[in-house]
Amino acid sequence: MASRMVVTHALTYANGRIHLGHLVEAVQTDIFVRAMNALGREALFISADDTHGTPIEISAAKAGVRPEEWIEAIHREHVEDYKAFEIEYDLYYTTHSAENERHSVRIFEALQADGAIEKRGVEQMYCPTDKRFLPDRFIRGTCPVCGTADQYGDSCENCGSTYQPTELKNPRCAIDGNTALERRVSMHYFVRLSKYQDFLRQWTATPGRLQPEILKSLEKWLAEPLRDWDISRDAPYFGFRIPGEKDKYFYVWLDAPIGYLSSTDHWCQEHGRRVEDFWKSADCDVIHFIGKDIVYFHALFWPAMLKASGWSVPARVHVHGMLTVEGAKMSKSRGTSLDAREYLEAGLDPEWLRYFYAANLGSGATDIDLSLQELKNRVNGELLANVGNLANRALSLIWKNGGRLTRAAMPERAQEIERELAELYTRCDTRAVVQKVLDFSSLANQRLQAAKPWEKLKSEREAALSELTYAVNVARLCARWLGPIAPKFARGVEEQSGAASSWGDFKPLEDAPIREPRPLVRKVEDADIEKLASKFVADKEKEPPAAAQPAAITIDEFGKLDLRAGKVLAAERVPKKDKLLKLSIDLGEGAPRTIVSGVAKSYAPEELVGKNVAVVANLPPRDFGKGLVSHGMILFAGGGAREHTAVELPAEVAPGSKVK
Ligand code: 2FM
Ligand code: ZN
Repeated sequence: MASRMVVTHALTYANGRIHLGHLVEAVQTDIFVRAMNALGREALFISADDTHGTPIEISAAKAGVRPEEWIEAIHREHVEDYKAFEIEYDLYYTTHSAENERHSVRIFEALQADGAIEKRGVEQMYCPTDKRFLPDRFIRGTCPVCGTADQYGDSCENCGSTYQPTELKNPRCAIDGNTALERRVSMHYFVRLSKYQDFLRQWTATPGRLQPEILKSLEKWLAEPLRDWDISRDAPYFGFRIPGEKDKYFYVWLDAPIGYLSSTDHWCQEHGRRVEDFWKSADCDVIHFIGKDIVYFHALFWPAMLKASGWSVPARVHVHGMLTVEGAKMSKSRGTSLDAREYLEAGLDPEWLRYFYAANLGSGATDIDLSLQELKNRVNGELLANVGNLANRALSLIWKNGGRLTRAAMPERAQEIERELAELYTRCDTRAVVQKVLDFSSLANQRLQAAKPWEKLKSEREAALSELTYAVNVARLCARWLGPIAPKFARGVEEQSGAASSWGDFKPLEDAPIREPRPLVRKVEDADIEKLASKFVADKEKEPPAAAQPAAITIDEFGKLDLRAGKVLAAERVPKKDKLLKLSIDLGEGAPRTIVSGVAKSYAPEELVGKNVAVVANLPPRDFGKGLVSHGMILFAGGGAREHTAVELPAEVAPGSKVK
């Protein structure tokens, strides 16, 4: 096993806030890095913002700022948010850096020298009203492979296929909805990925690189010749210009993973180290943590690029499952997500979420669901009532009886358990880690309960204090074992018991003073989870980040809004979604439309029936899962007696009338 490692999580796209889905990955990676460092390996934790591409260029333009200003504002927010959740990077950098441009050009040149780059004209979709080619995410339509509607131009959210924007069925411009698109030819650069097919087959199949289910999902790609990969984009684009070209740029997915390498390089420059000792050394493993949606990029494109340019290929790519919240799919693009900031603003303790994620994440890529009730039960019933209570009970009794630990043996099996935990942490099976520590702590609680030292502090003082000292030492072990997951809790136990505790040290802490015990974990109250639940309204318009406060819109932009009068024919609650109402609205179209509104806290369903409301009629459908799809949005005003007040139209306005 290499003694050093560079560990990364996927670079966060600089176009929006950190949501609880990002945090699954960041927390899992942070836990892994902390565990590896605790085990004595040098694990360098590197991540960055992924800052290039059309979405960022367009968002910045809309906000009336330069893309550089946009990504800087987002970077500040991201750094703050990750810090609040104790994600302890060695460096959280950016892909918009001199190092990244240098490495991107070099890797591109290495691919060229390897004969893997081909230049050829490609037909692209062009939006004449926006005067730009429509790459990737700026064209939407039906997936050419599985037929799912409303997919982006580069890949399908449903079946995971990647394809060319020209292959989409029923394409439309995602910027202005234009369906009168043109096909125009533009010169593009391609990586001939099939050149690396044999290497990729061997790399992916090497034991330890990928989880078995991920390898299996890649086999279908590798069975056929890999398709060429288009790595260029036309101006206007925010990114790195391709050497020798005036208005062509590297596609963001070329320079994004190179950000792993260039950020390490930046860290090395600042710490007097050599990037080659991390990315070109047999004694260093490069390990990436990613989500299922970007396996193709990390297990095919990226290793091929590294191979061509002579850097180390990843030793391991670990894929975690996706997060649902209360059973609903999180989707940035649909606004059905919960931000890190919303969690913090609701006053919840970040450590609760770290613990919940760890307790649910196994070594596989199974999806996890954030149920707030389960979060409460786990934190209160496990962290607080089991391990926390062991520490607190024992320390409090000692504090009231002289404040000194006496003598006690170290629990049997501690070394063996620590070895097992090291193995589990290495496999990222934190669910099993949590269970093992809880079991160990339960035994100590049972022993304490049976020995009842609190009854013997007068009659058999020495034996009672020794029993309590034993319990403190078990709590110290548990805390250090949970340290990568719940660092604040671990620090609390160390501080109160009077000394730090390191992995590999099995000498009991004895004959030493302790400090005054304080509660180690705050209890999760119903009010806490209600506060957070109130922020999770699946169809709520999320506030854009500060940098994105909307600039004034033009009359033309306003004209694109299709506002109509609609009559509410029926309304009902949505099972298990206490914020949502499912409404049936007559828009004068014959069949009524289903519209889902997050106003169930403001209106009982029957209060809305019969109302004449204002409806935004030309929004794309929004999928709430379980067959519930919303086809529009109803206007509600804030600031009244209720949180939402329907904007009502006079009764004589007929359904379907245009509201101008
Ligand atoms: O999927 C994403 O959000 C990308 N920003 C991940 C990039 S990972 C790496 F390749 F840079
Ligand atoms: Zn598909």
